[in-house]
Order: sequence, then C-alpha cells, then structure tokens
Amino acid sequence: MKVKNEQNLSRRRMVAGNWKMNILPADAKGLVDSCLEGLSGEHAEILFCPPYTHLANLSGIARAGIHLGAQNCSEYASGAFTSEISAEMLINLGCTWVILGHSECRARNSYEKDRVADKIRRAIEAGLKVIYCCGEPLEIRDAGQHVHYVMQQLETDFSKMSVSAMDHVTIAYEPIWAIGTGKTASTDQAAQMHEHIRAWMKQQFPGCGEALKILYGGSVNAGNARDLAHSSSIDGVLVGGASLKPDEFKIIISAFS
Ligand code: PGA
Repeated sequence: MKVKNEQNLSRRRMVAGNWKMNILPADAKGLVDSCLEGLSGEHAEILFCPPYTHLANLSGIARAGIHLGAQNCSEYASGAFTSEISAEMLINLGCTWVILGHSECRARNSYEKDRVADKIRRAIEAGLKVIYCCGEPLEIRDAGQHVHYVMQQLETDFSKMSVSAMDHVTIAYEPIWAIGTGKTASTDQAAQMHEHIRAWMKQQFPGCGEALKILYGGSVNAGNARDLAHSSSIDGVLVGGASLKPDEFKIIISAFS
C-alpha cells in the first residue's frame, strides 16, 4: 500500500503526551509550560495526559488547541469501587479526554480487555473524548496476523457502539513491540494499519470514516516524527517517553503542525 504525501486537511492533527507513571505532581506545571514555551501560530491539537495525581495542578492549562486528559477511567459512574476513578471526577478536574485500552493497562489486568467497551461508553456518556488504543504484540506481527488481531480488537470494543458515539473517539494504533522499545513501526507499516482501521470503521459506522482521527504511538521521537507526519494516513501521535522531554516534544508538535 502506497503512503500518500499530501495531508488530509479535514482532520486537525493531534500530538498527545502520555506521561505514564512519571514525574511528581509539583513538577507537572513546569513540564507543561516548558513544552508550550515559544509555541505560536497554528499548531496541532496538543493533549497532556499525566497521572491522576497531577490533574488538579494542571486544571487550568486548557485553552484553544491545548487539552488535559487522563490515562484511564472506570466503567462505572460512582460507588463501591475502591481505587477506581470515574469519568465525572476527571471532568471535574478539567479533563476533556481520556486514554482507554492502553496495552500497558491491558497487560497488567487480565480483565481489562473485557472492560474497555464499557469504559468507552461510560466516558462518552459522561462527556469525555476518548483516545482508544489498539495494537498487536510482536509474535502476532511476526506471524503476519497483525491486521486480523487489530480488527478483532475493534470488533470486541466497538461492535455495540452507536454511530454518534464515534464523533467522540480518536484511535491510536500502538503496536506493542514499538512501545518504549525504541523500535518504531515504519511509516508504511503504520499507514497501512491506519488504512485498515479506517476501512473497518467506515464499514461498521457509515459516515464516520473520513472525520475519524487515527494516531500512531510507539517510540515516537524527534528523529522519526517528520517522517511519520509525512503520511496523510497518520493524523497525529501518542507519545510516551519523548513527551517528558520538552525539546523533543516541541519538535514532534512542530512536525504535526
Ligand atoms: P513510547 O510510549 O512513546 O514511550 O513508546 C507510547 C505509549 O505507550 O503511548
């Protein structure tokens, strides 16, 4: 499949930082400020997803094109769910986005995969936008089963979703073998999977296809961002490690702006 060079102008691109379990709450505002320092003119939509404990300190950062999000949330609205965090709590702290289905959450909790669809529904019902993560492990890619695997994830998590819910969903294709490994999928590998995802979504939800943003995630850095940004199938990136380094994150933002 050939990678196209021209950008799809109907979808504003997004650069999302997933801080995972890094830095301290007191340092969060400083990191955001450093990442945004010198930012001017038209830029990609920027999303910061720190740990829950940092959200209160970052409540005020949102403005046009700058958003605050969380890394997970509960499928329930409230109640006896020790240690869980609800979508409403996130909204109360200024979040407008939540990441759901991240492979690190799926890997740590074997029930997670059965909860993702309900979490998406709950988050959207509460008023959040969702970055939904999907992606295959290395052995599946090596066996040539990666497209089937990701389509199965979509089937599991979206088959009962309404068409209107899709206005609130952005997809992040994150091959597990590329996350935190320094091994990025090539632009062609990412673009090909993005096109499969878009085709599946279009078929499942007629009318949603062209507006749907599909991000790539997995060892995105200052060195590979421009190449990824060159593909019209890649509407932005979900960045882990490099989102903690302001100089690098700024280069990634400018690549997608
Ligand atoms: P990475 O993480 O950029 O450190 O590979 C990406 C992610 O897990 O979202």
